[in-house]
Amino acid sequence: MKRRDFLKTVGLSGLGVWGACVWPSIPEAHAQRTRLSVFLDERLGKINRNIYGQFTEHLGGCVYDAMWVSPDSRVPNINGLRKDTIQALKDIRTPIIRWPGGCFADLYHWCDGVGPREKRPKRWNWGGVGESNAFGTDEFLEYCRLCGAQPYLCLNVGSGTVKEAAEWMEYCNGKLPTEITESRAVNAHAEPYSVRYWAVGNEVYGCGGKFDAEDYARQYAHYVNFLSPLGQDDPVEFIACGNTQGEWNQKFLEALLKLPYGKIGDVQGLSIHHYFQRGPGVNFTDADYYDLLADVSTLESYIQKTISLIDHYTQGGPHIGIVLDEWGMWHADTGTGAMVLRQSNTLRDAVLAAVVLNSLNQFGTAVSMANIAQTFNVLQSMAFTRGPEFVLTPTYYTFDLYQPHMDAMGLKVEIDGPTFKSEAQGMEVTRNYLSASASLKESEQKLCLTLVNQHLTDPLEVEIELHGTGSGGMRGALLRELTSPSVHDENTVDKPTVISRPVEKRVSVKMAKFVLVIPAHSVQALRLEL
Ligand code: AHR
Repeated sequence: MKRRDFLKTVGLSGLGVWGACVWPSIPEAHAQRTRLSVFLDERLGKINRNIYGQFTEHLGGCVYDAMWVSPDSRVPNINGLRKDTIQALKDIRTPIIRWPGGCFADLYHWCDGVGPREKRPKRWNWGGVGESNAFGTDEFLEYCRLCGAQPYLCLNVGSGTVKEAAEWMEYCNGKLPTEITESRAVNAHAEPYSVRYWAVGNEVYGCGGKFDAEDYARQYAHYVNFLSPLGQDDPVEFIACGNTQGEWNQKFLEALLKLPYGKIGDVQGLSIHHYFQRGPGVNFTDADYYDLLADVSTLESYIQKTISLIDHYTQGGPHIGIVLDEWGMWHADTGTGAMVLRQSNTLRDAVLAAVVLNSLNQFGTAVSMANIAQTFNVLQSMAFTRGPEFVLTPTYYTFDLYQPHMDAMGLKVEIDGPTFKSEAQGMEVTRNYLSASASLKESEQKLCLTLVNQHLTDPLEVEIELHGTGSGGMRGALLRELTSPSVHDENTVDKPTVISRPVEKRVSVKMAKFVLVIPAHSVQALRLEL
């Protein structure tokens, strides 16, 4: 059957295919067909669930209104913690949440945010935030517990002290009966919280203190020296602040190793940040759309460079994971004032997130954590709130579709098909219209493929072929699809369901080779039972 004839039989025209479809047999190859090979025996390492993490900062409406509404609010809450946002993060199995910043962290003093709420001081913070301190350590850790997520705390290096940091860690993790752990018991929690992940500062080269790499290495060693002994009962991981610009990462690691007793084993993670921006949030041009997606190459090149550097310094020794603890879209027209950094969230944002997550999946164990900025009401958020109203964004649905990759074994994929050219970092880059990643849950014999057709107008015919052990045949297949008539479509508080939660449908895939026709600007999650 010819492609045109087949599309006719299923009631679709070549352009404007609406909804993915699986071809029952392999039809004659179309010139523009993409071939996707998935290699079941070529393992990239376990995909760290923490790359599906979130970043929350006391900024705009991220914490107040979205995470915290206070116990007497008319918005349903659990002791002040907002129920609908908790449920949303639980539903996508959010693995980890970074807090309290961002730049906010380097002016934040944790002591201000514990104890009786009415006695907590009001403070000024970065970005003119009037901070009530109503939401502090105990509230954040309880919020994480309710979501089923691990906390990731960012220490104040810029304006704090080592003593303050050590006491914060003792408050969270201490087991001995001391004044600090007893205050924790009185305030909220008798048992230690066992917080594992600690960032030693945020953007210390900028808002976090304007250090140079050598000075920061000394600071880092100083913090780790006094905090490590506190982490002996429960494992603790320290994340150093890296920077993709210039030779910061190299200078930092070099300087650390030159210090008396400086050792690479003191660094469990190296953080980098990457924000994307191409035009306004909704009224972007077609060129903005493609340039944006091509810019994923920039992030990939930063990750690749950081991997090479880490390999050089670790020499096969203790692993240092790359922690992309801030990433996402930062539109040219974000909000100001009380709505600071609030921005629209269109299908384009969701497509970008899907391409980035496919890329992170492909880096195997090299990337150990990633936290999209920021969970609610700020930058590329998962949901918007306005008083009691609550709206999930298209980006949330991407995270929803990608859930099965968490903790699964990343598999090598190869793509051969039509490409687009665009510009990133002043250079022309060529990328496949198809973006894909694959993972296997061996215990369940389930394969997850996430596919993105980045083409603005045309569907993609994708011939998928599984190679290797277990590729013989399929017991079943389930497909979820995220798309909308236009990439400019968005969910807003006034129109919350322009793009709705993708539903799962059963599709007929039996053989190791089949064709999937994917609509333009869509994200697909295919789950195959081997
Ligand atoms: O996410 C907003 C800000 O961007 C963060 O506070 C800072 O770390 C980054 O520059």
